[in-house]
Amino acid sequence: MPNAQIVGAGHYVPETVYSNEKMSTYMDTTDEWITERTGIKERRFAKKHEETTTTLAAHATREACKDAGISVEEIDFIIFATLSPDYYFPGCGVLLQRELGITKTEIGALDIRNQCSGFVYGLSVADQFIKSGMYKTILLVGAEMHSMGMDFSTRGRGVSVIFGDGAGAVIVKATEEENSGILTTKLHSDGTHAEHLAMINPGSHGGYHLGKEHFGYEEKDTPGDVFVTQKMFDDGLYPNMTGQLVFKNAVVKFPQVIQEALKAVALSTEDIDLLIPHQANLRISQFVQKVLQLPDNKVFNNIQKYGNTTAASIPIAISEAKKAGKLIKGSLLCLAAFGSGFTWGSALVRM
Ligand code: ACO
Repeated sequence: MPNAQIVGAGHYVPETVYSNEKMSTYMDTTDEWITERTGIKERRFAKKHEETTTTLAAHATREACKDAGISVEEIDFIIFATLSPDYYFPGCGVLLQRELGITKTEIGALDIRNQCSGFVYGLSVADQFIKSGMYKTILLVGAEMHSMGMDFSTRGRGVSVIFGDGAGAVIVKATEEENSGILTTKLHSDGTHAEHLAMINPGSHGGYHLGKEHFGYEEKDTPGDVFVTQKMFDDGLYPNMTGQLVFKNAVVKFPQVIQEALKAVALSTEDIDLLIPHQANLRISQFVQKVLQLPDNKVFNNIQKYGNTTAASIPIAISEAKKAGKLIKGSLLCLAAFGSGFTWGSALVRM
């Protein structure tokens, strides 16, 4: 059975930097509040009407292919993780195929909707496809253009100061090398708190969870007319987050799922050479580092520069860590993520 190895990585972040000070020109916030609560100093936002989630992903993909020494034509499966797609449907996988100029149709494209844990879920899917022998060269990309759908008024400040735009990509390839590549992945979900970190509008719920009296529209005899209602527009088509609930769950689930993966392959925290946690909040990463008793040089953080880029955060960090010489052959890379759903997961990769 082949193993699945990460053989190349690339990333792209939009040029325009939005500092905390700049954010405070749109809403009532301060550099001090954002830095203290999240560790974020600045983020990038894409060029409205010029860039899309797919174009960011294409830049990252070209760099990943170059790093892996392959042409885009060699990709035989695309996995695209995002919560901020170009269209409601079709997903970004096929749009990326077109953007890259891949004309062959002997290729599959799969879209992953697991938000912050999208990359780890995607890596697990790539691993299974390669181990089963179905595909040999898989492009896994995480890309987000949050800026197109956030509330930049004071009403939305609890969310909009946290998220940034960007894309990261890896090439996962089959290898016959033993004890190499993805050693294990662990995935979890719990829908109990689904609406506490969510963008629920537009959607087929049509407001049913609020009760009939809150529908905010006249019910008609015909089916339809619930996907986008006037009430949804009035409420705002924006994400919402119960920050403290997310924080409390994240700091428990991150260490748990990392320990679970280590146990599955009979390794321990001392064996980790580099932990790349999903860049949700620097305070969460620092908490996890403390619980696992990892030294500073074994934990990679870049949220200070980019904010939380959701599905893109781990592959951007992989690409930066690789360029910085932190992922040398034989080293043990640990990935972990927690987010909306809630969904969470981890992966161990022998580089
Ligand atoms: N600037 C200034 N004040 C703000 C801002 C802001 N940007 N946002 C909220 N506030 C105010 C609130 O209105 C509130 O004011 P009040 O006390 O007068 O009501 C006050 O600050 C405290 O708000 P809280 O939401 O209680 O602040 P908290 O200390 O919980 O910090 C935060 C919020 C940073 C979101 C925190 O809860 C957190 O880190 N949660 C984890 C969630 C997370 O990291 N999410 C990332 C995405 S999800 C994921 O990837 C896992």
